[in-house]
Amino acid sequence: MGETKITFRSWGKNDFEQVIKILHESWDKAYASFIPKEDLTFYLNQTYNTEKLDKLFKNVNAFCFAAEVEGKAVGWLKLSINKEENRFYLSSIYVLPEFQKLKIGRQLMDIAFATAKEKGFSEIWIGVMDKNTNALGWYEKIGFIFEEELPFRMGNTEVQHLIGRKKLL
Ligand SMILES: CC(C)(COP(=O)(O)OP(=O)(O)OC[C@H]1O[C@@H](n2cnc3c(N)ncnc32)[C@H](O)[C@@H]1OP(=O)(O)O)[C@@H](O)C(=O)NCCC(=O)NCCS
Repeated sequence: MGETKITFRSWGKNDFEQVIKILHESWDKAYASFIPKEDLTFYLNQTYNTEKLDKLFKNVNAFCFAAEVEGKAVGWLKLSINKEENRFYLSSIYVLPEFQKLKIGRQLMDIAFATAKEKGFSEIWIGVMDKNTNALGWYEKIGFIFEEELPFRMGNTEVQHLIGRKKLL
């Protein structure tokens, strides 16, 4: 891929279709070995249809960013403030499989840290399925510590979700 030019920006309504594609393809790669495809598709269609993305777009406590290559989003980052918990979450980070390992995730992570600080938070929280060992290892390498565990349901499948945090410098 060599000289791929990657840019980073806030997302827009024009990204909705591509965001769904990113989720579809990266979930398939990351989760299909432990979650049946029908559950993945059911959850994706229910949680990330255009109507839900539009709601997310209007949510003042959510901040989303896109990594773009040749005019198309290839990576997506969703950040959110949970008012009840007073926590800043990195709630989603997904890169299209063919664009993984190009440091796009790392740069999206830096946007997450900067946004959390800008909003006045000194730590950032994250959730990851325990069986998603790739992402878990990646987060641990970045310095996240996982101490909480909660069940999480995708369609008919229940998985364990590890909750981690990292202090921001
Ligand atoms: C996880 C993900 C966001 C990472 O983004 P990425 O752009 O592929 O990763 P980057 O290129 O920024 O990271 C590369 C670095 O992480 C390291 N790395 C990658 N996987 C790793 C792992 N399992 N354990 C430790 N280090 C890992 C690489 O060796 C590289 O290190 P280097 O900087 O020293 O060379 C991306 O791979 C992805 O979308 N995965 C599928 C979806 C997913 O699981 N998302 C998270 C859901 S909770």
